[in-house]
Amino acid sequence: MFSKRIGIDLGTANSLVYLEGEGVVLNEPTVVAVSEDDGEVVAVGSDAKEMLGRTPEGITATRPMRDGVIADYIITEVLLKHFIDKVCGKSRFFKPEVMVCVPAGVTSVERRAVLDATLSAGAKSAYLIEEPLAAAIGAKIPIGAPSGNMIVDIGGGSTEAAVISLGGVVVHSSARVGGNKVDESVTQYIRRRFNLIIGERTAEEIKLTLASATSLEERISMEIRGRDSITGLPKTIELTDKEITEAIRPTLNRILEAVKGVLEQTPPELASDIIDKGIVMSGGTSLLQNIDKYFTEATGVPCHVADDALLCVVQGTGMALENIDLYKRSITKR
Ligand SMILES: Nc1ncnc2c1ncn2[C@@H]1O[C@H](COP(=O)(O)OP(=O)(O)OP(=O)(O)O)[C@@H](O)[C@H]1O
Ligand SMILES: [Mg+2]
Repeated sequence: MFSKRIGIDLGTANSLVYLEGEGVVLNEPTVVAVSEDDGEVVAVGSDAKEMLGRTPEGITATRPMRDGVIADYIITEVLLKHFIDKVCGKSRFFKPEVMVCVPAGVTSVERRAVLDATLSAGAKSAYLIEEPLAAAIGAKIPIGAPSGNMIVDIGGGSTEAAVISLGGVVVHSSARVGGNKVDESVTQYIRRRFNLIIGERTAEEIKLTLASATSLEERISMEIRGRDSITGLPKTIELTDKEITEAIRPTLNRILEAVKGVLEQTPPELASDIIDKGIVMSGGTSLLQNIDKYFTEATGVPCHVADDALLCVVQGTGMALENIDLYKRSITKR
């Protein structure tokens, strides 16, 4: 009664926290700034992101999640503690119950490590839920029904595709490709075609403005500034949506392969349900223009983007914790 219940989505780019009864209360970059001398943590989350690129010597900003999986457990614990403290207050009397989502198919060693990190970060009890289930719950898919549902979460670092039936994951596939790789393909194209070097932020901005999975009816263009790789001097170029749409196509096809891989392994009865109901997409990269249209054409199965696509995973994690009896088959507890 007195202890709070919180759900946490540790994303490659951003981490979100859901508080029971309130909804999503925190959304911060998954970054921790560490001192190089003694390994001490200097800043976490938004404060650490602010430091990225402008840190004095001796401080490095690290991202504990890489390609959608935890790469550094010590830093992850620091991050979890930061979120728990921020939501529950530092001098709390009752420890919270915390549910964290993990990619489908993580090993039992990895599960244990996340559970331990959550408990050390100050949780009374720690729970894990598989990310595709959380995404499906958050997308309001009735996952308990004896019928096949397919969800594809395309984030910054990874893509997770899964077929769910009777509250459990039946088939899944994950690929270490997402929005970050889309940004990289933009950067590489511009470097090759114009000898222009651009930063990460610019690449993402170009993607958000110009990128589309299928060509747009109306041409749009934008002016890009960067550094010429040959002269070393600043340079401005004009870029169109058509070029970027072509440049990102191979990366989108890698994401598509993960989706097709799951469809190929799906038992026939469930496949027939999915053809009826379609595929639901979530995660930030599902917001890329026309990606639903492109995937529909490529798979022959109707694809739709969920409402609040960026929040599905954290909302589903929180909702699973609120209705733990309903989902207990798919939840690991410690
Ligand atoms: N409107 C949009 N169009 C295209 N891409 C977008 C849009 N909005 C966000 N993104 C991209 O979505 C990605 C972030 O998505 P999300 O927050 O779901 O990732 P994450 O949960 O941190 O990563 P992961 O789930 O892989 O660990 C970024 O690459 C961002 O550029
Ligand atoms: Mg995510």
